[in-house]
Amino acid sequence: MLLGVNIDHVATLRQARYAGMPGAHNAEPSVTAAARAALEGGADSITLHVREDRRHMQDADALAVRREIPLPLNLEMGATPAMLEFALNLRPDFVCLVPERRQEVTTEGGLDVAGRAEELRPLVAALAANGSRVSMFIDPDSEQVRASAAIGAPMIELHTGRFANNLGEARTVEVQRLAAAARLAHSLGLEVHAGHGIQPANLQDLAAVPYLTELNIGHTLIARAVFVGLTRAVQEMKEAISRLSW
Ligand code: PXP
Repeated sequence: MLLGVNIDHVATLRQARYAGMPGAHNAEPSVTAAARAALEGGADSITLHVREDRRHMQDADALAVRREIPLPLNLEMGATPAMLEFALNLRPDFVCLVPERRQEVTTEGGLDVAGRAEELRPLVAALAANGSRVSMFIDPDSEQVRASAAIGAPMIELHTGRFANNLGEARTVEVQRLAAAARLAHSLGLEVHAGHGIQPANLQDLAAVPYLTELNIGHTLIARAVFVGLTRAVQEMKEAISRLSW
């Protein structure tokens, strides 16, 4: 099981103080230092979300991580012409297409691939031709899985937010939905990742979902890093993941 470490919150913290002072010599914390700490902790890739409103990650952050950190880079982005152009220049190893609404605190729901298929198909093709493998961040829904395969995406990331936010019977239902979506995706030849709200406390339930090959985790790692540092937080997560059978 691979671990992608999302470091958006490091930029969120920096912007809380320095948003009005772009490039300030004293701005902290450093996004590239965070990526390096994640690398030292055993991260398999670095994820960052460059939002249209640049509320946390800035273009320069993505470029610096691409240049300085010897790990695969996964760029999360909205499916817009401007972001496509940005990704074509950055040439990340992976691009994860996500829905984006200005007011949301974080990515709230999956991308409507089925409803936007004709718009997304050329975008996926352009990114693939430029050397980036593309995944669709979708809800565990058969229509969205089929649409992702139909437009030529090689990978999906299943949205685990509802799974994470529920307990008991409701969580069991979400595990079943995730498992059904993962089975369908696998049968269609898609690589299956998962992300959003994953924490040490819900890993064991998530391990019941078949065919997962990568988890993308951000918030809980940065929260833990406040107390033990990011390298240690990533090490702990890698250990927790490797204790389970996937
Ligand atoms: N995957 C995607 C597509 C996301 O948008 C996010 C949140 O930024 C994550 C994974 C990570 O979620 P979390 O921060 O809850 O671990």
